[in-house]
Amino acid sequence: MGASVASIAVAPTVFNAPAIAQNETSDIDWSMGFPDDATLLNRNENPIGPSPKAIEAAKLGIEKSFRYADSIYIKSLLAGQFDVDADHVLVGTGSGEMLNAAPLAYMTDSNHNMVATWESYRPIPGRAQRLGGKVKWVNLLPEENYQYDVDRLLSAVDENTRLLFMVTPNNPTGTILSYANIKRLADELPEHVLLILDGAYRDFQEGETDEIELVKQGYKNILVTRTFSKTYAMAGLRAGYAVAHPDVIRKIAQFAGSPTSTNMAGFGAMAASIGDMDYLRKSRDFVNNARTYFERELGAMRINTLAGPPIFILAETGENTQAISDELRSRKIFVRPGGEWGMSNHMRVSYGLDHENAAFIAALKDIIG
Ligand SMILES: Cc1ncc(COP(=O)(O)O)c(C=O)c1O
Repeated sequence: MGASVASIAVAPTVFNAPAIAQNETSDIDWSMGFPDDATLLNRNENPIGPSPKAIEAAKLGIEKSFRYADSIYIKSLLAGQFDVDADHVLVGTGSGEMLNAAPLAYMTDSNHNMVATWESYRPIPGRAQRLGGKVKWVNLLPEENYQYDVDRLLSAVDENTRLLFMVTPNNPTGTILSYANIKRLADELPEHVLLILDGAYRDFQEGETDEIELVKQGYKNILVTRTFSKTYAMAGLRAGYAVAHPDVIRKIAQFAGSPTSTNMAGFGAMAASIGDMDYLRKSRDFVNNARTYFERELGAMRINTLAGPPIFILAETGENTQAISDELRSRKIFVRPGGEWGMSNHMRVSYGLDHENAAFIAALKDIIG
């Protein structure tokens, strides 16, 4: 039988494959689809990069990457850091892996729902919906600087609620759920509800009792997730973890955090970063300085801002926010207009290096006059 049209069309691609594989490393396109000289202030990445120690360890990890990177050792380091047993810890491909597993593990019936805040990070509620579950949205309080309304969160919970998803500090508002309010939620939630505390930006926050204390006290209804993506600037190494009572860890581990979830470069970089207080200080200082700069510059332009410990600021750029963001984009400066969080008059700007921040401010001044 003669070759079909489809196989003829495919053949040249197959034939060219070796040429692609033989590319020099200098030929690799690292742009990720953005223009080469783009200023990326849209993805909450930490531009100071991993610590030199983490980079060295990641390189060593690559040499050892013929092996699977079983995360037992990382679990024991994290368990030591938080003073819990290793069965309280799960390590995975970013904290997102464990967060994504929560609806799978807990929302097992189409009647089940998740309670989540509207002006917040949406992928996890989105996943719950895609699994056929419902999401009961609760607004933050704009009139109170986008604080959480704990009473309303509790009253949204019903007999079918299985998860209460909280991001603290929040993305994009920077709002902090205090330890007292976390404890109140944990104490008052019915037994069938797991409180998720997505702490992607938690390591930037200082001076508050760590909610992991509650896990240590034996609370069985809290799942804390943290990541090396933000404070430790390792977004591309995909390294994160969860801390919870072993019963919760076992449920999440049905769908996440297997021994093959960690990659060897991430394994090395995590091991070199756990307990690195010097780098933590450096990262926090970077964010504090950037926040001060943005608050001053945006304040001088009479633009209201909202910022907490995380690596971004929310700027109230008004009803033209989408158009302003589009214009910035045409100048290769990328920010995140707030429509996706129901905050269409705001844009979220991740902190970049000094020259990137200055380029953003100069372009914004030019656009809004
Ligand atoms: C609030 C929040 N949670 C979780 C994540 C996922 O982080 P990771 O890189 O650890 O998967 C992000 C990433 O932007 C985030 O903003």
